[in-house]
Amino acid sequence: MSYLIVAKNDIKLFITRAMVAVGTNASHADILADVLIAGDYRGHFSHGLNRLDLYLEDIKGKSCKADGQPIILNESAATAWVDGNNLLGPVVGKFCMELAIKKAKEAGIGWVVAKGSNHFGIAGYYSLLAMNENMIGMAFTNASPLVATTRGKEPFFGTNPLTVAAPANNGDSFVLDMATSVVALGKVELADRKDESIPDNWAIDKNGQQITDPKNLNALLPLGGPEKSSGYKGYGLAMMVELFTAILSGSAVAPNVRKWSDNHTTANLGQCFVAINPEMFAPGFTDRMSNLIDHCRNQEPVDGQPNVLVAGDPERENMRKCDEQGGIAYHINQITFANGIASQLNIEPPKVHSD
Ligand SMILES: NC(=O)c1ccc[n+]([C@@H]2O[C@H](COP(=O)([O-])OP(=O)(O)OC[C@H]3O[C@@H](n4cnc5c(N)ncnc54)[C@H](O)[C@@H]3O)[C@@H](O)[C@H]2O)c1
Repeated sequence: MSYLIVAKNDIKLFITRAMVAVGTNASHADILADVLIAGDYRGHFSHGLNRLDLYLEDIKGKSCKADGQPIILNESAATAWVDGNNLLGPVVGKFCMELAIKKAKEAGIGWVVAKGSNHFGIAGYYSLLAMNENMIGMAFTNASPLVATTRGKEPFFGTNPLTVAAPANNGDSFVLDMATSVVALGKVELADRKDESIPDNWAIDKNGQQITDPKNLNALLPLGGPEKSSGYKGYGLAMMVELFTAILSGSAVAPNVRKWSDNHTTANLGQCFVAINPEMFAPGFTDRMSNLIDHCRNQEPVDGQPNVLVAGDPERENMRKCDEQGGIAYHINQITFANGIASQLNIEPPKVHSD
């Protein structure tokens, strides 16, 4: 019985209760809860309930504001520059993507950048907001330094995720949502806790040497790993994210972003949200998307491998499982963690339905 099932709405209500208990505006707490649930529902457990602690500490430590509104600093028909006003990342992200969608409906494209933001959870949440309006959605954020540059030794870039989502026919879609590092920090930490070694292309030590013992971690490697396996491409993508976010918005840049788990310094993250209306281009966009997606999925897999997937399929399968089992299956340690938060904040714990 190491997994327990909690209905999506029950975990959402718990996250909202916890955030409100530390003083967060109720509608901001609700938006954050939506994003964290989307993380767990899509199978990215590192960016769901697991991260509640980070947001609670940010609000308690006053490094992030519990109430207020993002501010539009400059605007044109298709663009906006926003000050996130140091609010919760999901509050800033939802505001910016809704603005980008509105602009794309009128001008064909909406490109919105924000400074003064905070950790916004899974990037895919925001590209999906645009996709659900039949648009192509893209989102980017910079983050606390954890990833070395190619030939560098020290953490420099965040795991700087990027996402692109595009609608196809009959509810099908392409949803790329990825960090620009080989792996998330959480995977190295997990290996450390389990006393396991890690593949030698994930991370480096203080001297820049590739490691297999997670205890020697100094920095993660960019997507692609070391230089010989094209890690410089991940390094380039991390820098591209920095360009669309921090450089365009004037937020903190790369190594100047606050350190991971520093809850007492303002993060001042930069973020970018793009909506593109395919109707402004060649007719038949979703037909061509569906053809391409089907063509990929119909490729014959290597012997012994399951079917070829397209980006978004693993998440789709996870959501299907959640729907089938009536909620999200959390490891018992995560429920213990949530119950601990509930007793600390003197609120009702999440309602566990079954195992
Ligand atoms: N806010 C932040 O600072 C931050 C930082 C890093 C990551 N994240 C989030 O963490 C989550 C996990 O990121 P990740 O890079 O570990 O994701 P991942 O490696 O699990 O998946 C990356 C992408 O690859 C696709 N994919 C996976 N297997 C596939 C296959 N066999 N064939 C085709 N496509 C496949 C997935 O659908 C996804 O779009 C994302 O939601 C990301 O936005 C957030």
